[in-house]
Amino acid sequence: MPNYIRPRGTLDLYENQAQIYQTIIQTCQKIAQLYGYQMIQTPMFESTTLFSRTTGESSDIVTKEMYQFLDKGGRDFSLRPEGTAGVIRAVIENKLYATRDLPLKYDYVGSFFRYERPQAGRYREFMQFGVEVIGTRSYLDDVETILMISDILKKLHLDQYVVKINSFGNASCRKQYRDVLKDYFLPFQNQLCEDCQKRLQTNPLRILDCKVDKDFFLKQKDIPTALSVLDESSSQIFEETKKILKAQQIPFVVDSQLVRGLDYYTGLIFEIEIHGKDGKVYTIGGGGHYSDLMKELGGPDLECVGFGLGINRLALLLEEKFGLEAYALKKEIYVLTLDDSLKSIAMQWSHQLRQAGFYVTMETQHKSGSSMFKYAAKHQFHYAVIFGEDELKNQQVAIKDLKLQKQEVISLDEMIPYFKEVLK
Ligand code: HAM
Repeated sequence: MPNYIRPRGTLDLYENQAQIYQTIIQTCQKIAQLYGYQMIQTPMFESTTLFSRTTGESSDIVTKEMYQFLDKGGRDFSLRPEGTAGVIRAVIENKLYATRDLPLKYDYVGSFFRYERPQAGRYREFMQFGVEVIGTRSYLDDVETILMISDILKKLHLDQYVVKINSFGNASCRKQYRDVLKDYFLPFQNQLCEDCQKRLQTNPLRILDCKVDKDFFLKQKDIPTALSVLDESSSQIFEETKKILKAQQIPFVVDSQLVRGLDYYTGLIFEIEIHGKDGKVYTIGGGGHYSDLMKELGGPDLECVGFGLGINRLALLLEEKFGLEAYALKKEIYVLTLDDSLKSIAMQWSHQLRQAGFYVTMETQHKSGSSMFKYAAKHQFHYAVIFGEDELKNQQVAIKDLKLQKQEVISLDEMIPYFKEVLK
């Protein structure tokens, strides 16, 4: 038999670690609900052209990282590298923009796939929580998405974060910025890497995101910024945005070289960073305003904004900060019987205790008394409920506080009120 191992860049998640993921997802979804978002779920794979057109023909994601395949019918599909394209496709296909009040507000969670070089916090299958606001006509929706991320991070007790912001203004400012960058880099063409020489023609903005040419950029102190070409109203909106972020005490910095790895952004863009213990900086999420995607996919002319949070990176940071044990399942009550013939009644009471909201593990196996108590101690249950024949004759049960090593006998009717008193 061959030994199967998981594909490179994927994860098996179980027990406390899986619980961390669950905590993150539940927190994100709860906050999204508080902000009026509804869930949307779209397929894990879509037509390859949906992603190449939206993410950008010249982006790394499309040129190097797509999990692309032909299905048995010869159709060209790709596993989704991100969530925005699929959500916008679904909104157009289901005409959601025409049948509901705008803006639409959707949130989603799931697996995404990029063929990247795996390392800590970078996987080939990773999880994102994302939101999209569709049909916005106010920059306040952009600001609100950042406030929402801040609420999520606070709830997760990850408060040492910084939001990097930049703005392309609007679609026409962005186009102008492309031209300005092209003119700037043209004389340095031969000093750029091979990819960037191509990017100069296809998408000069991508040059700023190049890891190979990083040192060259550090030397160039006069690279034009997106902010320097903003028109008056875009400039004003950016100033207002900063004002609100400041008033809301969001820790942010303006990073005028921020461009993001996806091509659809046209206005405010942002990324959120957190320092790991190892000194490594994790980008735990990013997003921004995009005004042309709906139109480009055959929908109406509606502006949108959204973000994606990397759940794997948040999980790494939480594990590092609080440890796996902090996410362990609650072990409140262990129900055992001194005689196998009492298992059925023990099962009925276990059920009632769970219905009352307690975390209950019933011993279903045939075990000796000492091995059951050893098990209860090892797993650090707080209480043992012990069904014995003598007590049951009097409609009673023994309850042992395993932490204090104190046992008492109470009537069955008193059991639920008793635990409500001591465990709530
Ligand atoms: P993104 O910046 O490509 O944006 O991804 C968002 C987050 O997903 C990243 O900041 C990172 O935390 C996480 N992430 C990305 N790639 C990986 C990976 N290989 N392994 C682990 N985590 C990863 C988007 O995907 C946009 N769709 C966000 C958006 C929504 N913009 C507007 N609406």
